[in-house]
Amino acid sequence: VLADAVLSEDVVPPSLPNAWQSGTVRRVLLTGATGFVGAHLLAELLARTEARVVCPVRAADATRAAERVRRAMAGWGLSTAGIEDRISAVPADITQPWLGVGEKRFRELSEECEGIYHNAAVVSVLRGYGSLRAANVLATRELLRLAAAGRPAPFHYVSTLAVAPPAALSPEVPEDFLPPHPGLRDGYQQSKWASERLVEQAGERGLPVCVYRPGRVVGAPGTGIVNEQDLLWRVLLSGIPAGALPELNVAETWTPVDYAARAIAYLSLPARTSPAVFNLALAPEVRLVDLICWVRDYGYPVDTLPLPEWRARLDERSEAPDRATLTFFELQPAGAPESPGRVRSGNTARGLAGSDIGCPHIGRRLLHRYLDYCVGSGLLPPP
Ligand SMILES: NC(=O)c1ccc[n+]([C@@H]2O[C@H](COP(=O)([O-])OP(=O)(O)OC[C@H]3O[C@@H](n4cnc5c(N)ncnc54)[C@H](OP(=O)(O)O)[C@@H]3O)[C@@H](O)[C@H]2O)c1
Repeated sequence: VLADAVLSEDVVPPSLPNAWQSGTVRRVLLTGATGFVGAHLLAELLARTEARVVCPVRAADATRAAERVRRAMAGWGLSTAGIEDRISAVPADITQPWLGVGEKRFRELSEECEGIYHNAAVVSVLRGYGSLRAANVLATRELLRLAAAGRPAPFHYVSTLAVAPPAALSPEVPEDFLPPHPGLRDGYQQSKWASERLVEQAGERGLPVCVYRPGRVVGAPGTGIVNEQDLLWRVLLSGIPAGALPELNVAETWTPVDYAARAIAYLSLPARTSPAVFNLALAPEVRLVDLICWVRDYGYPVDTLPLPEWRARLDERSEAPDRATLTFFELQPAGAPESPGRVRSGNTARGLAGSDIGCPHIGRRLLHRYLDYCVGSGLLPPP
């Protein structure tokens, strides 16, 4: 991991003024626009700027790439009106050299794009570092190369609070780059940390860089649509019908996806000369014990069981137990997962001061909104 986290010496941004400083950004690049966060971030960039957004997307051709972006936005309840005039979907694979677009197109993109939003990643707490390295680390290196090869382009990296050290190692999570620490246990945490480290080095070499760290990204309160791929929802969607949830003493930051997108777009717009890190953690943490009470209040009679018994209950009661979720918990070391220390978020609070962007209230009502969506869409039986 440490060897991958060294930025090669040829990534040196030229000391030219960039378009961001003049406030006339015409074209930006956004990775991961077909994903949960990316679709919302795309909607926000389209709404908040006049820039054309270039979206590298895995697809056989540009038409199918554009269709994938449209479908993703529509699936999350986002407006797609007029997007064909504002986005350029490019068939690409960020794990490949030149992002899979070929050297000529790569060089054109680096000349054309005045800002890079790197949001794509493989989000999996089950996969090892080796299998995430290409998508989550080498791709960041390639995108930094793209950012530094042209004007240079400010680089906005969507990271995660999962890189934070546990409270036992550090009482606070700074809004700053983090040295390596033993709390980086799974491959996902390691790959996101290594990417941050690459971004940090590019910043030291003069590239304008920002890092945004959401907590667990949860659905937009307006639609209540949940991300079924997310571990929390996998636990709830398999545990509620089996009548049991795991007994874990954990608390975590939730960042609603529309708020995350609004905050990232807004915080990204001022020209900056020094690197900035933003922990998107303005709401109080959610404790699993409270979450379980809110589930019961909704009408689901769930027991809380120690992990081994919970896994056994799922196996026994489910017709098709979610094997991936069970495996995740089997792989956990004994004891509860460790929560991070107090997450500092002064940069985020100061950056958003004076804007109309506030983190929605996170509590029972929001959880019930998500459960309404799950019942309405057939993901859960009515209580
Ligand atoms: N979800 C969370 O709770 C959470 C929390 C904190 C931070 N984050 C960060 O937010 C970012 C987005 O996460 P998400 O939840 O939106 O994940 P997601 O829904 O799985 O979306 C991931 C996106 O990355 C793209 N991608 C992956 N591999 C690619 C490749 N080889 N070439 C091109 N595109 C590729 C995916 O494209 P395909 O559609 O082709 O697969 C998809 O658009 C990530 O950087 C993640 O670390 C997420």
